[in-house]
Amino acid sequence: TLRRGLLTVYFVLCVCPGAGFLPFSAFLTDNFGRRHSYLRISLTEKCNLRCQYCMPEEGVKLTPRSQLLSTSEVLTVAQLFVREGVEKIRLTGGEPLIRPDVLDIITELRKLEGLKTIAVTTNGMNLARLLPKLKEAGLDLLNISLDTLVPAKFEFIVRRKGFHKVMEGIDKAIEMGYNPVKVNCVVMRGLNEDELLDFVALTEKKPLEVRFIEYMPFDGNKWNFKKMVSYQEMLDRIRQQWPSLEQLPLGKTDTAKTFKVPGFQGQVGFITSMSDQFCGSCNRLRITADGNLKVCLFGNTEVSLRDVLRSGASDQELLDIIGAAVGRKKKQHAGMFSISQMKNRPMILIGG
Ligand code: 5AD
Ligand code: SF4
Repeated sequence: TLRRGLLTVYFVLCVCPGAGFLPFSAFLTDNFGRRHSYLRISLTEKCNLRCQYCMPEEGVKLTPRSQLLSTSEVLTVAQLFVREGVEKIRLTGGEPLIRPDVLDIITELRKLEGLKTIAVTTNGMNLARLLPKLKEAGLDLLNISLDTLVPAKFEFIVRRKGFHKVMEGIDKAIEMGYNPVKVNCVVMRGLNEDELLDFVALTEKKPLEVRFIEYMPFDGNKWNFKKMVSYQEMLDRIRQQWPSLEQLPLGKTDTAKTFKVPGFQGQVGFITSMSDQFCGSCNRLRITADGNLKVCLFGNTEVSLRDVLRSGASDQELLDIIGAAVGRKKKQHAGMFSISQMKNRPMILIGG
């Protein structure tokens, strides 16, 4: 670890142009030079929806509450990562907004020096009601999941009612000045592929970023290759309607390839995790609600930070364990076919 640490410090200081004199944490830098400055923390395994692509119909076995990270454990972990160079934290779930202490967590995160962005990924069900308080607590960025614009289809996909509540949440987010409001749409053949153009049309008058996500395999979600609609196919269909669709510049660690129809207020993005993986620029680490560090969404290797925390370990011991896990991060995921065969968690227990 020491050798790797020294090497990384050397590399970051001397080789990376533009790194300035602030060394990036060796613990959060992997063997491929990727710096992990973005942490996603799942706050709960529970959800008020039952999306087909996210969880099996029969539900998932929930971890007993005592084994989930407490408010103060979440904050301890967050603080440690921010001290090492994490600049963005996204709260996920399950549905993060059903956790009773979510506002306290955001308020406390906001106090961490060095943390630039606090984001939430939500299904939007409780959003309209919570938005004023979320904003006041310091929330910067919002991603809202919505896979259809047809209320009856919504009920089928998420196995619950609530379409209008989500739309209300989206509109309220725009009204409160969130820009862009990102809308996540998982595209599945035979289910909502026929709505691609309607979603793009939604960006004409609303400053949304609609992000079409390639359907990904997770445990219990009945993924198969035929149900996946690839980026190329989506793009072709949209271009038939709007040939002038233009691509926007890609940021260094962006996962979405973004486009805009000239004159439209909003834009569209594609998350191409399956057909064109972006592992090379990955800067993300994940912590599950039960306190496991997951270095790759599609990898099943995890290490329990909760157990280390509860054993009374020092920050340094915790960092050593984090550094070792980051050091084992693979260059890229195994490809969609291997992933679909592999044992992982259902998405609801990972947190996106
Ligand atoms: N494939 C692609 N995206 C998924 N999400 C959940 N499950 C899948 C899947 N199987 C996305 C949803 C949600 C976020 C939490 O993760 O769009 O917005
Ligand atoms: Fe809940 Fe989000 Fe999973 Fe849907 S995708 S079941 S809203 S956690």
